[in-house]
Amino acid sequence: MSSSLAILLLAATTSVSALNLDINLGLGLQSVPSTYPDFTQCLDQPSVYSCENTTTIENTCCSPTPGGLVLQTQFWSTYTGLERKGQLLPKGSWTIHGLWPDNCDGSFAQYCDASRQYDPAPPTGVEAYTGPGVDTFVRAFGREDLLDFMSKYWINQGASNEAFWAHEFSKHATCTSTFDVACYGPSYKKHQDVVDFFDAVIRAYKQYPTFDMLGSFGIVPSNKTSYSLSHIQKALQSQTGAIPYLGCTHNGTALSEVWYFSHVYGTEQFGTYKTLDSTTASTCSSTEPIWYYERSRGSEHEVRN
Ligand SMILES: *[C@@H]1O[C@H](CO)[C@@H](O)[C@H](O)[C@H]1NC(C)=O
Ligand SMILES: *[C@@H]1O[C@H](CO)[C@@H](O)[C@H](O)[C@H]1NC(C)=O
Ligand SMILES: *[C@@H]1O[C@H](CO)[C@@H](O)[C@H](O)[C@H]1NC(C)=O
Repeated sequence: MSSSLAILLLAATTSVSALNLDINLGLGLQSVPSTYPDFTQCLDQPSVYSCENTTTIENTCCSPTPGGLVLQTQFWSTYTGLERKGQLLPKGSWTIHGLWPDNCDGSFAQYCDASRQYDPAPPTGVEAYTGPGVDTFVRAFGREDLLDFMSKYWINQGASNEAFWAHEFSKHATCTSTFDVACYGPSYKKHQDVVDFFDAVIRAYKQYPTFDMLGSFGIVPSNKTSYSLSHIQKALQSQTGAIPYLGCTHNGTALSEVWYFSHVYGTEQFGTYKTLDSTTASTCSSTEPIWYYERSRGSEHEVRN
């Protein structure tokens, strides 16, 4: 009996997925493919913060170029519109919008690669995608853990979560040079870049726990108490070192969005984000009370376990 089989027999109390992993690793039957691009060549050029290079960035796999003003964006929504289908918001958390590559001057490109267009409902001029959902791409790489997190924290309004994830990839990641297919070299496996982007979005999102940052300053969702824009800005600035963009609906009185601006040292995948002041003016009123509304009854659920 091989030692890995012995381990398997002993591991009778572990979960099914842990057993599958043991089988894969122990007997080498089918390993989960990695999703790492090849950044080896990046050692040949100096690492810099994006948009802060003093010489030309030769290898654009190594730093988001153009598109070095990176925005991690989040939503505060009070409902999804698909509650009946079980599409709910995570209790105690803002939700993910995306990770956007603005140019250093604040302008931006979108839908940069028609061969990686997976958005089922793109704007006019871009062909709609009708193939399998991007969730199937993630599953093909054995990344149930990633799908699980995305299903809890990356929530759409009025349409499926998968459609939203596809939209974010095709609109923004295709314009982010560190996810270019060419960066993966000859061993590129189809959709590797998609999985890699989703991982990067989550990693960036976790740097900005908006709900907890606000909560620690007494700014909690309430339908009875409102807050001032400057109070909200100061709370977030005290933890990130910069003033993010805050978006409001209802004539600037209902808080609905936050965008954290940054320059990235190295790649979006694994690099370090330096948070910077927003270059976009807030759409929240600086004089009226700002409402940070409680979610509608039945629109949120507990996801921490
Ligand atoms: C930084 O790199 C980009 C991309 O190669 C280049 O267009 C830009 O001119 C560089 N900036 C400076 C100040 O050299
Ligand atoms: C916004 O304010 C304008 C002018 O005061 C008003 O006419 C409009 O109805 C308001 N809209 C909303 C959504 O409250
Ligand atoms: C709080 O107010 C918002 C905005 O009017 C509403 O959508 C939401 O359902 C309310 N939540 C609760 C728990 O009453």
